Amino acid sequence: MNSNIQKIKELALINKVPIIQDASLEVINSIISKRQVEKILEIGTAVGYSSLCFSTNNCVKRIDTFERNQDMYNQAIQNINNCQMSEVIHVHFGDALEVDISNFSHDYDLLFIDAAKAQSRRFFELYSPLLKQDGIIIVDNILFHGVKESDENISKNLRGLIKKINLFVEWLKQNEEFETIFFEGGDGLAISKRKC
Ligand SMILES: C[S@@+](CC[C@H](N)C(=O)[O-])C[C@H]1O[C@@H](n2cnc3c(N)ncnc32)[C@H](O)[C@@H]1O
Repeated sequence: MNSNIQKIKELALINKVPIIQDASLEVINSIISKRQVEKILEIGTAVGYSSLCFSTNNCVKRIDTFERNQDMYNQAIQNINNCQMSEVIHVHFGDALEVDISNFSHDYDLLFIDAAKAQSRRFFELYSPLLKQDGIIIVDNILFHGVKESDENISKNLRGLIKKINLFVEWLKQNEEFETIFFEGGDGLAISKRKC
């Protein structure tokens, strides 16, 4: 990892910005490299760390990424400019469930969903049509830090969130269009592709 990206990671961890875990990043980077992924669509930029890591793969030509938090967006733009990657990584400001995506092309190789965890199904349904026929969808944090719905001493809100993530996982398992494998390292990834 280059030193600029390493510094962005360290600062994100100090500031408690939730960024992708190393084990998940390793899996995604190996998929990017193996499939020679050129175009990525990401929901949830934060400070641009995951996008910058993906962009270090030589095959990656363009990343579009959405962020709704103004402060995160500003930091991402600054980090991406500092790493001289603004020609590759395009950060779009706004709520990914509300922005107009009618002008987006339908040729993404990889969709990475890493935003509001209760909304993963809506992101999946809204953005999967922008994927190439053989494209991949990866959803992060499906294990949600190991917290279980049955755990005692968790707040009602957290229990509600875990329930929504579990419902999303069940929905994925029964999805008629996509088949999904689950990676349990890191914070858990769901990796989906269209059924043949
Ligand atoms: C887990 S962080 C993303 C981390 C980033 N992918 C990384 O690994 O470096 C989730 C981000 O998604 C953003 N977010 C949540 N819901 C969103 C939405 N509906 N539209 C756009 N951004 C959203 C949050 O503001 C937050 O910055």
